[in-house]
Amino acid sequence: MRNLLSIADLTNDEIEHIFELADSAPKLGADNPATGQIMATLFYEPSTRTRLSFESAMHRLGGAVITCPDMKASSAAKGESLADTAKVVSSYADVLVVRHYWDGAVQAMAEHADVPVINAGDGSREHPTQTLCDLYTLRKEKGEIRGLTVVVCGDLKNGRTIHSLVFALARFGANVVTLAANGMELPQYVLERLEREYGYSLAPVASDDLTGVVTETDALYLTPKQPHQLALFTQLDAAMQTRLSTMVSGLRYDAFYMTRKQKERMKEGTTGGSYPTIGPKFLKEERFKDTVVMHPLPRVDELSPEVDKDRRGIYFKQAAYGVPVRMALLKFLFEQRDAKKTTAKKNANSYESPERLGPQCTNGNCVTVTEPRSTRRRFDLLSGGPSGALLLACSYCNHRFRVQFVGNVRSKHYCGYDIALADTVKDWFKKKELAIFDSIKEAEELGYEPYKSGPQRIIMDESEIQNALREMSQEILRDCQDPDRLLILGIRTKGSYLAQRVAAELEVDQKRRIEVGEIDIYGSADEIRRISSAYEDSPPISLKDREITLVDDVIYTGRTVKSALSIIFKAGRPQSVRLAVLIDRGHREVPVKPTYVGKHIPSSERERVRVKLREAERDEKDKVVIYSLISPAEARAERVG
Ligand code: CP
Repeated sequence: MRNLLSIADLTNDEIEHIFELADSAPKLGADNPATGQIMATLFYEPSTRTRLSFESAMHRLGGAVITCPDMKASSAAKGESLADTAKVVSSYADVLVVRHYWDGAVQAMAEHADVPVINAGDGSREHPTQTLCDLYTLRKEKGEIRGLTVVVCGDLKNGRTIHSLVFALARFGANVVTLAANGMELPQYVLERLEREYGYSLAPVASDDLTGVVTETDALYLTPKQPHQLALFTQLDAAMQTRLSTMVSGLRYDAFYMTRKQKERMKEGTTGGSYPTIGPKFLKEERFKDTVVMHPLPRVDELSPEVDKDRRGIYFKQAAYGVPVRMALLKFLFEQRDAKKTTAKKNANSYESPERLGPQCTNGNCVTVTEPRSTRRRFDLLSGGPSGALLLACSYCNHRFRVQFVGNVRSKHYCGYDIALADTVKDWFKKKELAIFDSIKEAEELGYEPYKSGPQRIIMDESEIQNALREMSQEILRDCQDPDRLLILGIRTKGSYLAQRVAAELEVDQKRRIEVGEIDIYGSADEIRRISSAYEDSPPISLKDREITLVDDVIYTGRTVKSALSIIFKAGRPQSVRLAVLIDRGHREVPVKPTYVGKHIPSSERERVRVKLREAERDEKDKVVIYSLISPAEARAERVG
């Protein structure tokens, strides 16, 4: 069984084969190869071309189509998961065609479907069948793709058609000129993949080469001050790149690929600003006399209707090719049905955390973040990132981010990653002993200890901790407007113990029950739960109009608190949220300020401040200790020294 989730799922030879099938589409249709087959179209986002051309293609092949006209009227609206929808619909149909607004959502569905799944566009990630139409159109117009120079223009950041297209152009040996609207440049992960996998590098193109021909006068892009917005990807050697980069004109542009501003993927209030347009001016330039204008459509106002009448405007042809190309693709996938499933492509770098907690993709629109229950956190582990960083590339959305902490599952020790650990980590990875964590908190939740620590110093003892909690409780009461609305929420695990102690102080003072809950910042469901026994039979905690005090043991970067706050504001609208921490280490990556602090202990990244509580550490008294972290590599160096 073959899926088509990314353009990378097809080899160049397979793409050529699909194009040959498309060339003989009328004959293909006459053979009715899809008789008795059913295709289901599940479009969670609007579509005209992709959906209707797929449905038309299936009918022309003699097959049948079932669809859900509006996914908001499907059981998705009742909260059905992508996994369950995929499982169920794949028992009604022989192939699924899916479009979704989350990056990687179609892959998640493919992992649960029992029939081939075709990606009809997922978030801002890929739209591989549009790329097939684009390449087919280019091939029809220009004979072959190798050696062509294609200018991709407009919203290169959010345009999924662009991402699939540039990978494919690179594979077929075309040059790509990027001409991005201001702030909408190709994402870093796309650039990195182009370089890493296809050997493409960026070379600047003289910016006035294209100035004025694709823009209204107020457009912001293409000024000499912003040369990075105009760049050429090529596989040519360095000397040629230098020559190209100094050329003002003379570069032969074979195609201009225009895109719409993807407003649906932009945050409210950020959709304004100028945007490049193609109009009559472009058509009048002698050097563009053979440059075809393409657009995946729909267009808004970036492509003037004037171009429709010109022989170079080939975008309606490009849309019409959707039917023969998709007929050919369906025929190809039916032929391949017994081939090996391609979704769970295991490669030598594939990494899945051996622990319950592990790294999370940093792309907020990735399906692993928006619907973790339908996914597995799977990554590619990539060495050689900027400044020797170790990177993880999410296997659903391809976003890349740095590894922060590494641990060994056998020794249950962890440390911050740095380049000196490269060989050690490679060895752990080979032996399947590598745990990766986004934070120290995550490692410690699983009982990991620092890899090696310097001498410990007690900086708060039992009575100081007790006094600090008592004082914080009094301050909480002083600020509280209505104790009936008070809710003490601890961040699991140490914050939860401290929250219960704070609540106990308040109960003694107020002679009444105080509601206590805990937040699990790593949970995928039931993230806020009650922990006070007096409320056991009560309905779930309501946050509406509550005066919440969020409690944690230590604040440093502020990331943990930020995660907890986002869970709170997703779950309800409290009247207020205040923050109580036993220890404030100073230094923030996120602007979060605690309202109540037990003790300020300014400390560096290499130091670790650890709160030990009797509930968490058996046979221990309460104490706060400070020590330095020493990485395994440093420890080795010390021994050698
Ligand atoms: N090009 C494209 O994907 O068009 P639709 O959104 O209409 O399917």
